[in-house]
Amino acid sequence: MKNSKAEKVYQKRLEKHHDELRWLYMELYDNSSMFAELCDNMKRFYTERNGDLKSSDAERECRPDWYRKNDLLGMMFYIDNFAENMKGVEDRLDYLEQCNVNYIHLMPFLDTPKGRSDGGYAVSDFRKVQEELGSMEDLEELTAACHKKGMHVCMDFVMNHTSEDHEWAKRARQGDGEYMSRYFFFADDTLPSRYEKTVPQVFPTTAPGNFTWLPDAGHYVMTTFYPYQWDLNYKNPRVFNEMMYNFLYLANRGIDIIRIDAVPYIWKELDTPCRNLPQVHTIVRMMRMIGEIVCPGILLLGEVVMEPEKVAPYFGTVEKAECHMLYNVTTMASTWHTVATRDVRLLKRQLDIVNSLPKDYVFLNYLRCHDDIGWGLDYDILKKEGMEERSHKQYLNDYFLGYAGGSNSRGELYNADPVTGDARFCGTTASMCGIEKAGAEENEDAMETAIQLDVMLHAYMFMQSGIPVLYSGDEIGQVNDYTYKENPDKAADSRYIHRGKMDWTLAERSSDADAVEGKLFGRLKLLGEIRKREKVFVSNAETWTVETGQRSVLGMARSFGEEMLIGLFNFSESGQTVRLPGMDGVYTDLVSGGKTDLAEVTMPAYGFYYLKAGK
Ligand code: GLC
Repeated sequence: MKNSKAEKVYQKRLEKHHDELRWLYMELYDNSSMFAELCDNMKRFYTERNGDLKSSDAERECRPDWYRKNDLLGMMFYIDNFAENMKGVEDRLDYLEQCNVNYIHLMPFLDTPKGRSDGGYAVSDFRKVQEELGSMEDLEELTAACHKKGMHVCMDFVMNHTSEDHEWAKRARQGDGEYMSRYFFFADDTLPSRYEKTVPQVFPTTAPGNFTWLPDAGHYVMTTFYPYQWDLNYKNPRVFNEMMYNFLYLANRGIDIIRIDAVPYIWKELDTPCRNLPQVHTIVRMMRMIGEIVCPGILLLGEVVMEPEKVAPYFGTVEKAECHMLYNVTTMASTWHTVATRDVRLLKRQLDIVNSLPKDYVFLNYLRCHDDIGWGLDYDILKKEGMEERSHKQYLNDYFLGYAGGSNSRGELYNADPVTGDARFCGTTASMCGIEKAGAEENEDAMETAIQLDVMLHAYMFMQSGIPVLYSGDEIGQVNDYTYKENPDKAADSRYIHRGKMDWTLAERSSDADAVEGKLFGRLKLLGEIRKREKVFVSNAETWTVETGQRSVLGMARSFGEEMLIGLFNFSESGQTVRLPGMDGVYTDLVSGGKTDLAEVTMPAYGFYYLKAGK
C-alpha cells in the first residue's frame, strides 16, 4: 500500500519532466540506451531515499517558497577548522543556534589527496568522506541531527573536474581509452595551443595555463584550475550519468543544498572561452529536473562568479528553471569598492539592477567567502565617473593592503597576474574592516570604528533580499591567519589567510559585552533576530534604493503589506546628516528602539539605521 503510494508520487514527478529531460538528453547525447540507464538509476535512488527525506521532499513540494522567506541565515566553514570532525560539528550545533544560524555550508569534505587538494576542491572519491573528518554514516547522522533542529545542510558538488587521484584519472593515465575519453587528452600541443588562444586563465600565477603535460602518459590533459584537477568531459554521456549518480547519492545522505562548484566551466568547445556555453545551461536544467524527480526538497546553488549579465541566466526561466539560488557576487565586490571609495553611487546602481530582477530569484548574500575577492565591477559606469579599470583595481588592492586612502585594512593579494597586472584580494571581514590593525596597535578608538564598520556592513547585507551567509569566525571578528605560510602545501595560496581555525577561546568572549568578540556577536545576533522577526525582510517584499543626497550614505527601502522599512548606511568614517524631505512621519529605529523624523537624520561614522515607518 505504502509502496504503491510512493510509486505514484514518483511517476507523477517523472511524467512532469520526462519528455523535456529526454529531449534535452537526446539533443546533447543522442543515446537512448544511456538515457534509459539514467532513468533506471533515478528510480533506484528514489527507492533508496529514506522515509524522513521523502516526507521532507513532499512537504517542500507543497511549500515551494520555503527558502524564500526571511528566516534563513547561513554560515560556512571547513569542518576541521570549525570542530575537528563531523562529530565535533554535531556537538557545536548549539553554538550555531546561538548565532541564529539555520543553514550550514560544510566546505569540501570528500576524499582528496593531501597537498594536492585545492581546499578539498579536487575530489578523489565522491562517495568517501576524508578519514580524519568521519564517514558517510557520520554525515548522515549530522544531517539528521541538523534536520531535527530545523537546520539545513549545504555541500559542494565539484562537478567540473576530479582529482588526478580519482579512479577514472588513474586509469586514464595508464592509457585506458574508455577513461581517457572522460577527460580531455591530447597527444601533442596542437589543440591545447588553440584552446589557449581563447580560454582565459583562472589561476594565472598559482597554476598558469589550462593544460598539463603528463610525461608518464605522454599526453596533455586539460586542467583549468590546478594541474591536479582534471577537467571532466561532459560530451561523454558516461561522465554525465555517473556524475548525476554521485549527485543523487550525496543528496540521499540528507543534503539540502547542493552547491554546484565552478558550474560555468563544465562544457568546453574549441575556439570559445569555454565558459557559460549553452550546453552548460542544458546540463544544469537536466540536473534541476533530475533533482525534482528524485529529491525535490533539494536546492541547487550555482557558483557563478562571472560578470552580472552572465549570472542571472543560471536561474533559467519560470518554465525551465535551472538554479534555485546564485551568489550575489557583483554586489559583494561593489560593497568593498564602496568601503574603499566612500562613494555609494556604483553600489546603488548595482542594487537597482538586482532589485529590478524577478522576486523569484533568490540570491545568496555575503561579505566574503573562502575564495578571494575579484574586482568584477561595472567599469563602463566607473569610467564615466573618471575611474579607469587598471588604476582603480590597483587602488582597491592598495587600499585593502592598507597602503592607500586612509585605510585600516589588512590582507594579501591573490593571483597577481604579471601579464595583465590584475590581482584579487584575500582577507577576513574583520581584518578588512580594521579590527586586526586596531588590535595590534591597541587603539581603542580605532577598534570602535572598525567594529562599527563591520556591523554596518552586516546590517546592509542583511537588508538585501535572499539568504545571508556568514563565514565562520566573522561573527566574533576573527582576523587573518598568517600560519598558512608555514605549511608548504598552502603557502602559495593566499586564500588560506582567511580560512583560519575557529578560535574557541575567543568565542567564549561572545557573551562579554565589553570584548571585541562580544560587541560583534551581540550586534550581529540582534540584526539576525530583527531580520527574522520583521515581515518586511521576506524575499518577495518590494525593494528599492533611496537617494540620500550624501555620496557616502546608501539608502535602501523595503515594503511588504502595510510595512515599510528604510535603511540608511554611512560608508564614511565621518558623521553625516541626511535629509529625506518627502518621507515625513515618525520612524522607529529597530536597533535602538528610538524614534526619528526623516526630515533630518544625523549619522555617526559608519553608522546605520533600520527605520520602520510608524510607531
Ligand atoms: C570554486 C571554488 C574554489 C576552487 C575552484 C576549483 O571556484 O570556490 O575554491 O578553487 O572552484 O574547484
